[in-house]
Amino acid sequence: MQYGYFDQEQDEYVITRPDTPTPWINYLGSGEYGGIISNTGGGYSFYKDPAHCRLTRYRYNNIPADRPGRYLYLRDPRTEKFWNPGFQPTAAPLDFYECRHGLGYTVLNCEKDRLYSSVRYFVPENACFEIWHLKVKNFLPARRKIQVFSFAEFSFHDAAMDQQNVDWVQQINQGRCRDNLITWYTHMDPQKVTFFTCSQKPHSFDTNLESFIGPYRDYSAPAAVTAGTCFNSISRRTNGTGAFCHELTLEGNSSSELIFILGFSSEPDKIAGMVKPYLQSEQSRDAYKRLRQYWQNYTSKLQVKTPDADMNLFVNTWNQYQCKTTYNWSRFVSLYQLGFARGMGVRDSSQDILGVMHTIPKKARQKISRLLQCQYPEGKSYHLYFPLSGKGGEGDAPVKKYDWYSDDHLWLVLATNSYLKESGDMDFLKEKIPFNDSSDDSVAVHLHKAVSFTAAHLGPHQLALAGRADWNDGLNLDTGRGIAESIFTSLLYMRALRELIELYTYLKDDTTAAQYTAMYDKMKKAVNNAGWDGKWFLRAYDDQGNKLGSAACKRGQIFVNPQSWAVFSGAADIKQGNMILDAVDKKLNTPYGIVILEPAYQKFDANIGGLTTYPPGAKENGGIFCHTNPWVMIAAAMLGRGEDAFRYYKQILPAARNDRADLLEVEPYVYPQNILGREHPQTGIGRNSWLSGTASWNMVAAARYILGVRPDYNCLQIDPCIPRTWPGFKIRRVFRGAVYNIEVKNNRHVSKGVKQIIVDGEKRAQVPVFAAGSEHNIIVEMGD
Ligand code: GLC
Repeated sequence: MQYGYFDQEQDEYVITRPDTPTPWINYLGSGEYGGIISNTGGGYSFYKDPAHCRLTRYRYNNIPADRPGRYLYLRDPRTEKFWNPGFQPTAAPLDFYECRHGLGYTVLNCEKDRLYSSVRYFVPENACFEIWHLKVKNFLPARRKIQVFSFAEFSFHDAAMDQQNVDWVQQINQGRCRDNLITWYTHMDPQKVTFFTCSQKPHSFDTNLESFIGPYRDYSAPAAVTAGTCFNSISRRTNGTGAFCHELTLEGNSSSELIFILGFSSEPDKIAGMVKPYLQSEQSRDAYKRLRQYWQNYTSKLQVKTPDADMNLFVNTWNQYQCKTTYNWSRFVSLYQLGFARGMGVRDSSQDILGVMHTIPKKARQKISRLLQCQYPEGKSYHLYFPLSGKGGEGDAPVKKYDWYSDDHLWLVLATNSYLKESGDMDFLKEKIPFNDSSDDSVAVHLHKAVSFTAAHLGPHQLALAGRADWNDGLNLDTGRGIAESIFTSLLYMRALRELIELYTYLKDDTTAAQYTAMYDKMKKAVNNAGWDGKWFLRAYDDQGNKLGSAACKRGQIFVNPQSWAVFSGAADIKQGNMILDAVDKKLNTPYGIVILEPAYQKFDANIGGLTTYPPGAKENGGIFCHTNPWVMIAAAMLGRGEDAFRYYKQILPAARNDRADLLEVEPYVYPQNILGREHPQTGIGRNSWLSGTASWNMVAAARYILGVRPDYNCLQIDPCIPRTWPGFKIRRVFRGAVYNIEVKNNRHVSKGVKQIIVDGEKRAQVPVFAAGSEHNIIVEMGD
């Protein structure tokens, strides 16, 4: 069943009925002021850090779901009927409903009783507030009155405290309203305010939630809306709201507009001046146009035209948009992550950076610098940090013998080297960056310490120690002895070393390159000696020295990650690589995606850890953990298996399942983190949409490995691996400020192999780095 469609002209996903199987959300803002908004207007807002500067509330595990939100109630005083443009929370039937999620904005359009309304929610660039721009149109020939009630439910800024210390919080909250401006603050800190304001003088207002909703009532029929007036309540404690009632008189067939602004300020005296221009219709529209231009420019750096329309849609628009969102918010704040527990993940953000590198490399550099500050001087890293407080944290996995995750620090190498290749900014290597104490050193030393930390923490088989967990948060093998080893981390370490070897070879520093090569070779030997199971690679050794991911195991006989990463790291030779990818295809692939392991564990096993808390087929225990799928696509592309790479790409592409959206349940315009696997009775259901490494790695798999356009230190590599049937494709790529218009011709119908490269009419061995500002035409002919 289908709930909507892609409007390609507008770059919007249009939801045509409100009763989607889960709330289908969008993100507002660009990483400073932020918020999520669902297709029925549910959602919440925050400034810079959802843990420490939460502006509005949201009840995550509530039934009815998806409440509260940025609500507008439209009321016809003549009939006393009222409804919401987003259907919720009144659930009053609408004559027409449509939600348009665009890049950084959402529009709810509806019609009821000949009154059309359209409200657009967005955050102007660099603003610390959001705009709700409402237009109403009277389709009746006669004059009529309409009431508009606007509503936001305020949160205490410390989001966890808002839930935990109700006694304190509800005695210090204060609200007031002056000159169309509602402010919400605490008795102890009146300078930090959440505010809500509007473009026209209201009829009435409320700042006290209890007054607006009324005793023993709820959002579906607030006392104020039912009565047709707010109560001008001033909150001296308890719960707060920003609510206005406006009365509009509309002539026959005429329209009117109202603008509301919700935001945060630590200079309350300046709010009125700051928002004034945006309360004018024209200027609000201009701010929206600038937002559209921002995204147009953002996505223009990479545009593809392949024979597959769904791939084009995702690479050109939606996957880029999701990548930017994960880059903004890591795994911090979504419908599934509450925005106060986790902070920004070091491992997660390091991977998210890969998905935005082609378009905002300078910002990527800043983020990498921030992440490198999470590193301890000995090379390991914090697991996460909170952007406002600046504090680092350690994550949830249990501490037994070791308190570190075995992988966090190694991802920093992948992110940094990707930046160096994209930008050519080798000076970054010399930049001094603090560690998480007061000491500092160059980026090159940070990276060196990262690999050295792993090199110094090997187990009995000379493989990387597992620590609290590796990429798989639920693999908590260290039970106190501290000898458990992770083959995944060993392979990630090899990939990081491979990056460093390439880097120092390019820099002609043969001594350093040789040092890293020796470390690489040593680990390659260990992985092949102790990690090879005969037909595929093992996953790990537990703390008792037992194998995980062996054909001899009862459960968890094969895991996907050591197979894809054996190819990606170079641990597997070509023969082994093909053998293990055959095994992956045979044992782990399903029509909905590749499962993470097989067969799943049946019950909780303390020697394995968190992943066995999940029932068979869910998440890390045999689910389709989508993040791992692009790694298989990359491995397949590296080995020239073009049909496989594209098949794996297409089978988890949400757009390709738009007509079966009821099965997946989550949004068809972004990747979910997981889909229930074949051992689960509800196979095919997706969850944790939006914030997942799936976004950036699918971007990497599609753009850099399937389409094969990869930045390198001294060239733009072009090495596609595509289905043989494709006649070719086109790609427009901005690289170091120059535009490359690339046309790949596959007249010989191969999967991989480049026969000839013609750059601006001349045959060349490779595509050179051109001066910023220039534009070039490249024709690539594929062939054996
Ligand atoms: C979640 C975590 C990520 C982890 C993955 C696998 O997506 O955010 O850090 O790598 O699960 O456990």
